[in-house]
Amino acid sequence: MRSQAVAHPNIALVKYWGKRDERLILPHQSSLSLTLAPLKVTTTVEWGKAADEVELNGKVAEGSERSRVVEILSLLREQVGASKLGFAKVVSRGDFPASAGLASSAAGFAALSVAARAAAGLPRDVRAESILARRGSGSACRSIQGGVCVWRRGERADGEDSFAEQVFDNKHWPELRMFVAMISREEKETKSRDGMRITVETSPYYPAWTKDAEAEIPRAIDAIKARDLETLGELSERNAWRMHATALGANPPICYLMPKTLEVIHRLRAARRDGVMAYFTLDAGPNPVILTTEKHAAAAEQLARECGAGDVVRCHVGGDAEVITAG
Ligand code: PMV
Repeated sequence: MRSQAVAHPNIALVKYWGKRDERLILPHQSSLSLTLAPLKVTTTVEWGKAADEVELNGKVAEGSERSRVVEILSLLREQVGASKLGFAKVVSRGDFPASAGLASSAAGFAALSVAARAAAGLPRDVRAESILARRGSGSACRSIQGGVCVWRRGERADGEDSFAEQVFDNKHWPELRMFVAMISREEKETKSRDGMRITVETSPYYPAWTKDAEAEIPRAIDAIKARDLETLGELSERNAWRMHATALGANPPICYLMPKTLEVIHRLRAARRDGVMAYFTLDAGPNPVILTTEKHAAAAEQLARECGAGDVVRCHVGGDAEVITAG
């Protein structure tokens, strides 16, 4: 009744932005991501307790942090039987600071889903794990498997066909590097959950965004298949721009960009003219993630530091979420 699992965060190159069902966390469009190692979250779940207890990074979780975890536990109780499982103790810890600018929620809900199912005696099932993780945080469904994952939006109202699947494993393109350029540690003004909702409800550009993003998925897969950094980098940049453009078109406008974000973006463009093959993507925050290969890694890191990045978090493509202890 006790299991421990680890999962990595992920960075989307074709972003998820906007839900068609807020409760089930179903997206309007498909998305594609790279799994980020060495960063990881380790989560232990033990069933058979008298009440649910949730500890995140050494602190007892409260409010929405706690209720989102309890919701995952409750979904499993519905599936397996509340009388069989009882309540659970959850202890989760990330090895990267929240200030890394990468949501630990994706890795956290992925590790939670894998550990909670394993502790309940269920066999590994990446589809079921991905669907369960999705209910905690949409992007978490892409952290069950390593390498490159695609979250297909699905068509069903119950969300049973909305989950992520691996398209390439982490051995496909080992030279790929992703660097998080930490230009700000301030908490963002608009959480992605709210930013998405306001964008869907008010941005006149939203329908164009969903159509375009969906069409980029097969092109991204082809570029990764060919290990074509230039095509993938250009695609990743325009997809990030278009996500931010649709958010900027919302009412009130949502702007995650800061002056230093733009500095990194412009410097990358200039560096490419000098032969440094490095590109950016940008989540719902100011810290660009630079996409490059081992060959250009040092130059890309230096560029980020020159633009004022206090820290550069170096990542490569990671593997699957795993159960590390069970029993
Ligand atoms: O899963 P959430 O609610 O953390 O939303 C993630 C949204 C983005 O990071 C901006 C894009 C993505 O696909 O990860």
